[in-house]
Amino acid sequence: MKRQHPKSLKRVRWLSLRDPEEVAQRACAHVLRCAARAVNERGRFSLVLAGGSTPASTYQRLARAAADWHHWQIYFSDERCLPPDNAERNSRMAQQTWLDRVTIPAENIHIIAAENEPEQGARAYASQVAAALPFDLVLLGLGNDGHTASLFPDQKHPASELVHAVRNAPKPPPERITLSIAALSRSREVLFLVTGRDKRDAVAAWQAGACLPAARIGPDAVVTVLLDADADPSRPF
Ligand code: 6PG
Repeated sequence: MKRQHPKSLKRVRWLSLRDPEEVAQRACAHVLRCAARAVNERGRFSLVLAGGSTPASTYQRLARAAADWHHWQIYFSDERCLPPDNAERNSRMAQQTWLDRVTIPAENIHIIAAENEPEQGARAYASQVAAALPFDLVLLGLGNDGHTASLFPDQKHPASELVHAVRNAPKPPPERITLSIAALSRSREVLFLVTGRDKRDAVAAWQAGACLPAARIGPDAVVTVLLDADADPSRPF
């Protein structure tokens, strides 16, 4: 596998925490801090949400927080090509754990229209993303193969795109829509939430310099990875 540029590795800040609950607590605090700073400096906070299951406990904490929600703009790192009310949709998870419980205006929640052809949804979302850049904070997860969002290690996409259509994804469902490395990197900060023993090998490969999709996010963004003890290869298990 290709190696990362040595500069890339130095840019990432790794925080090894106790357990998934501490990761969620620190992630929630980080989002709220970032939001307060962005609203104070620019009158708005644009946040990209991670999909998958890891961020659910962070979103549940955010649902209990107090914030200037009407200044928040919500985007999604990726979406699975399923009907909008399908329980496997990343947007449904975020709505049920958080967005349906706070007063972020509906027009500020930019859901990816992923119920049709991925190419059609990708084109439509690209114009929304172009108008939003740069983001203030991007939240991402990490797959056990080093994928992030729906950017998978062996899939190539045009570098010029802000949003890709994905077919034959190795993680079901096969059809997805994802922000590109370029779009995810156009953020002031990027925060990865990584928990669980099954992520340990991907973290070790990333730290050893493997050019995984997660490792390619940057280089201008400040990248922080919150790990729990199970996902941290430097900790015994
Ligand atoms: C998805 C996600 C994907 C996810 C990782 C980790 O649609 O599945 O965008 O990138 O973040 O696969 O998933 P877990 O948090 O469920 O381990």
